[in-house]
Amino acid sequence: MPTSAAPLGALDLLAARLSCRAFTQERLASDELNAMLRDALEAPSSCNQQAWHFVVLDQPEDLARAADLAGGNPHFRDCAALVYLCFQKGWTHDNFSVVQGVAAAGYHLMLSAHLRGWASVWNAGTGDPVAVRDLLGLPAIFENQGAIALGRAAPDSPARKPPRRALETVVSYGRFERPEESIYPAKPAPAYPFHAISRVSNPFAEWNPQSWSWAQLADYRAYSVWAKSPLAGVYTSRREGAATRAWLDMLAPLPEGAKVAELLPWGGTSTTLLAGRLPEDAQLLVAELHPHNLTFIRDRLEREGVTRAMGEILCPDGHLPCEDRSLDAIVVPQSLEHMADPALMLAEIARVLKPGGQLLISARNRVSRAGADWARGESQGQVPLQGPWTPLRPRALLALLAPHFTIEELAGLGLAREGGADALRGSPLLWRRRAIALRARLRG
Ligand SMILES: Cc1cc2nc3c(=O)[nH]c(=O)nc-3n(C[C@H](O)[C@H](O)[C@H](O)COP(=O)(O)O)c2cc1C
Repeated sequence: MPTSAAPLGALDLLAARLSCRAFTQERLASDELNAMLRDALEAPSSCNQQAWHFVVLDQPEDLARAADLAGGNPHFRDCAALVYLCFQKGWTHDNFSVVQGVAAAGYHLMLSAHLRGWASVWNAGTGDPVAVRDLLGLPAIFENQGAIALGRAAPDSPARKPPRRALETVVSYGRFERPEESIYPAKPAPAYPFHAISRVSNPFAEWNPQSWSWAQLADYRAYSVWAKSPLAGVYTSRREGAATRAWLDMLAPLPEGAKVAELLPWGGTSTTLLAGRLPEDAQLLVAELHPHNLTFIRDRLEREGVTRAMGEILCPDGHLPCEDRSLDAIVVPQSLEHMADPALMLAEIARVLKPGGQLLISARNRVSRAGADWARGESQGQVPLQGPWTPLRPRALLALLAPHFTIEELAGLGLAREGGADALRGSPLLWRRRAIALRARLRG
């Protein structure tokens, strides 16, 4: 047993593991896969019961079914094998010890794959649990909590490992201490019982971004943006894709050499579309709350084939570090409703826009059918990865704009909750549409 200093070479190698979501479809021989699984069995388990079980899918048709079930994890289709992490229920449940055991084995499997030259990604998102149970033929006494996808990394698979928090922010000696911005707001309660909280039902989730500080929003977005690699197409919204295009159609012609800033586009979905709309001589700037988001968006644009340079604006506290009257246009892609202080941001926008500069806003509408659904459904669950948000009431949006802006074009986009981008103009019914899209001019 080694007693000397840590074998740094080996640890550096292990630290270089990163999740892969783009595989080559190369198959993995069962001998090699079994060798990895045998390594995984060296993990510790509660009472050494090894109550884990691993169901392996490695046939293309099974992988395709698994991908269909998982929905948001398309890499299931191209990986060489999916190893479903299962465990038997009924024993040593306290402190989730059976789950802890299979998790230890899961990570060991990933490290083994990594050292053997294969790539992997852990997936909690496997799809409807009943359908997954059926796919795996899993008896009722066993549970599945996730799957590890194994395969050969595609040559252009993103090679940047998501950033880690600094040691001193997640480790404290003697007692609990943690920087305030990395503790996310929850509704005040005497206790937060684990079993009372799920993704679709979280009575403690604080969806109102105005109950978060800018620093908390920055911190949350900065790490969770890496929930996926910055692959082309990632985070594209099925619901808002067409609506984003219809909204960007409202961008008025820009002056020569225009400077255009986009505020908080999170993973860069809208930036990709915006970049294609700007004249060649325009300068695209992206404003975000944390450098990690800017890094993600830069990588994302590269993978989307966007060759236009991206200027970066870091605004961790909602103040834009731009000179007064320096920008020609500002684009706010459904992100005003994610901000800790929208009024401050509007005042900042008014300060940095040139007189007559245009402000293009799309905002989700609280008084639409989608807004009502959000209140009844989505908002009862966990705050999403892009951070807390609340759809805006048109009256509140107009009140925010009134001090500085004149609305030049206004449309209500989409009626259905699920999507659609039909634009309604010139009718009071537009205020019932899913998104309010507008172009406003800064008064001189
Ligand atoms: C419990 C767990 C569940 C995860 N679920 C998913 C998932 O469903 N889909 C996915 O693409 N990545 C998933 N991941 C991968 C994480 O996003 C990834 O580990 C994280 O962003 C850190 O990146 P790294 O693994 O490259 O260091 C999961 C990771 C863990 C540990």
